[in-house]
Amino acid sequence: MIQYKDSVFHLKTKETSYIFRVDDSLKLNQLYYGNRLEEESLDALSLHQVIQVGSSVLYDGQSMDLKCLELSEPQVGDYRNLSTDIWVNNQQACDFKYVGYEMDVVRESVLPRGRGRDSRLVVYLMDEKTGVRIGLVYDVFYEANVISRYVLVENVGEESLLIENIVVNFDCINDDFELISFHGGWIKEAHEYVSDLGIGRTVIASTTTSSSNQHQPGFFLRSKVSDSVYGFNLMYSGNHKSVIERTSNEFVRVVSGINDEQFNWTLKSGEVFESPSVVMTYGVGINNASSNFHDFVNKHVVSKVWANKERPITYNHWEATFFDYNEKKLLKMAKVVSDLGCELFVLDDGWFVERNNDLAGLGNYEVDKKKFPKGLLSFRNKIVDMGLKFGLWVEPEMVSIESSLYRKHPEYALGVRDKRFGRNQLVLDLTNKDVRDYIVSNVRTLIEEYKVDYIKWDMNRHISDQESIVNNYGKEFSHRYILGLYEVLERIFGDNEVLLESCSSGGNRFDLGMLSYGPQVWTSDNTDPIERLKIQGGISRLYPLSTISAHVASELSQQTLRKTPLSTRFNVACFGVLGYELDLTYLSAVEKKEIKDQISWYKKYRKVFQYGKFIQNGLQWQVSYEGVTIVGIYQTLVIASPPPHQRLRVFGLDKNKYYEVRAKAQRVMLDRYKELSKHILPVNLNPEGKIMKFTTEHFSLYDQQQNLVASGQLLESGIWLNNQYLGTGYHKELRLWSDFGSTLYVITERK
Ligand code: DGJ
Repeated sequence: MIQYKDSVFHLKTKETSYIFRVDDSLKLNQLYYGNRLEEESLDALSLHQVIQVGSSVLYDGQSMDLKCLELSEPQVGDYRNLSTDIWVNNQQACDFKYVGYEMDVVRESVLPRGRGRDSRLVVYLMDEKTGVRIGLVYDVFYEANVISRYVLVENVGEESLLIENIVVNFDCINDDFELISFHGGWIKEAHEYVSDLGIGRTVIASTTTSSSNQHQPGFFLRSKVSDSVYGFNLMYSGNHKSVIERTSNEFVRVVSGINDEQFNWTLKSGEVFESPSVVMTYGVGINNASSNFHDFVNKHVVSKVWANKERPITYNHWEATFFDYNEKKLLKMAKVVSDLGCELFVLDDGWFVERNNDLAGLGNYEVDKKKFPKGLLSFRNKIVDMGLKFGLWVEPEMVSIESSLYRKHPEYALGVRDKRFGRNQLVLDLTNKDVRDYIVSNVRTLIEEYKVDYIKWDMNRHISDQESIVNNYGKEFSHRYILGLYEVLERIFGDNEVLLESCSSGGNRFDLGMLSYGPQVWTSDNTDPIERLKIQGGISRLYPLSTISAHVASELSQQTLRKTPLSTRFNVACFGVLGYELDLTYLSAVEKKEIKDQISWYKKYRKVFQYGKFIQNGLQWQVSYEGVTIVGIYQTLVIASPPPHQRLRVFGLDKNKYYEVRAKAQRVMLDRYKELSKHILPVNLNPEGKIMKFTTEHFSLYDQQQNLVASGQLLESGIWLNNQYLGTGYHKELRLWSDFGSTLYVITERK
């Protein structure tokens, strides 16, 4: 998978080649990253630079500014954004030269790296004057078509080094690139933005000490000429920064790593510093590049225990109750959801003492006896007796002033000068070993004492303070916080099968670092399915459906005040790890029936939804696994009198085979159409009367169920869907969609 011949390194994955060489000046030149090559001449791969360019600075007769490099350094005439900034005694390391390489080196790492790589190359460069040695690490994940890169800085001299910046560097030539990146905020995470890659530097960065709901660390460069796509993502949960620079000479440089704005690191003699890994892929078409990332996460990021394992269908009561609950109320809910087919009951925020709102209680691990008079184990046992697994919410990195922990250890919280609150809480100092031990011991005790199957690890504010009360770490603070977090997660979850779902006010921490410890993430506090189309649509460009926790909530969205049909809430949530979060108290009998059917249908296709190959084609989502393809088609706003030519297109089928296409059965709830009953009934019923109430509670219409057979070829070019409601009349073959309508279609080979 990794060849070295005549100073050229060739890293091969199943479908891609990554090629660079050591040039005559002992610098590393990137030569090619794209579809797989076998043997090519250096001449054919190289840029040819024979004449000096006006005003450029020469290094060994060549302009460094006009080369594609694997590592970029200051003071050599490379004026692009640089990947190294390291100092020894006020001297900057600035002339790294190739000194050798090693293959398949095994080394322990303090940061998550991806498991089960197929091959590893480390290429060493040294700056003689300052004695700084750099190792460029390339991990090859063959089947996933991913190359994951990180940088080692080794202090092989006597003096301490000051690392101001060290990031991964990738250079290529502009191919009329668009930048596809993901931005947002609370309840609007990871919306996709596409823009032409502008001249100059584009920065995607976070400063919240988390990967952040504002700017996802992952992004793509897509060629408008060839549809070739380079994908990048950072395996890190802290402040990140990627700079994508397009020069006037049409070179493109990508540097990515820890955000240097709030960072430096002192490296003592004999120590090694590691940058986070930048995960890179190449594919033709965004769906193929995404699919490589999905394979990588499913096979190499999530822990072995959870890889390819079906995830339970959750009920979480948060949106139904907030803090207002007790054992009796929850057991009633648990009974209903266990009858409906849910498999995991999650006890969310509010179960411990002083926690009746978000003003107090974080830092108490003692159960609130007013809510659970017989204790939590007794509650858990009752849940388990109903056939459900038991999940528990915790927010271990935080503390409220009103809590036993803060009263005893105020120095555990951050905030040397002023206490800055977010959601009325302070952040615990994870750079302090005592704090880490405290958290590990408490969460482990909870897991053991209450026999917990699942933990929801929440984190509900950005971090602002960058100083520990007990240690003076200067600009090392935020990186040390993340190292502390990873240590804590490893100690709690590294040796057991507890299912960890991370959450940070929804998707404030949806990143490859967190996924290395817990295989799924609460994607957003926004459960409105139409908003989720944007949120899950964006997130799924970078992360597989098995990581996307998605719940069916109430008809009236708490986040947008929009009303959506139950079918659409399910049809979006099923593209991920399904759960329910709605208030069950007022569900009608027929809604319960529909939910029961949804759950059993999801169980049948769970593997498809969690592990299938996912393709987005506008508002059509497709997922395929072992011969089953499911397509979801969604409508945002209805158009009046829609023409009869809405298309269903299915990709990746065998063009010569024939397939059955079946629309999933779904109920249309009659309470949406009460007033219209007068047009079809011989009697005029009061829409708010008792008869109507009884009818809408117990009866529903089935939406159209289009079934047909077509070839893979025809399905790729598209078949026509049944007509939507046209403004007049009813027919059983009409799609009764209105605003926010949707349908799922199952496509299987004809028997
Ligand atoms: C934020 C989470 O995203 C919610 O799902 C819920 O767990 C609340 N925190 C609880 O405080």
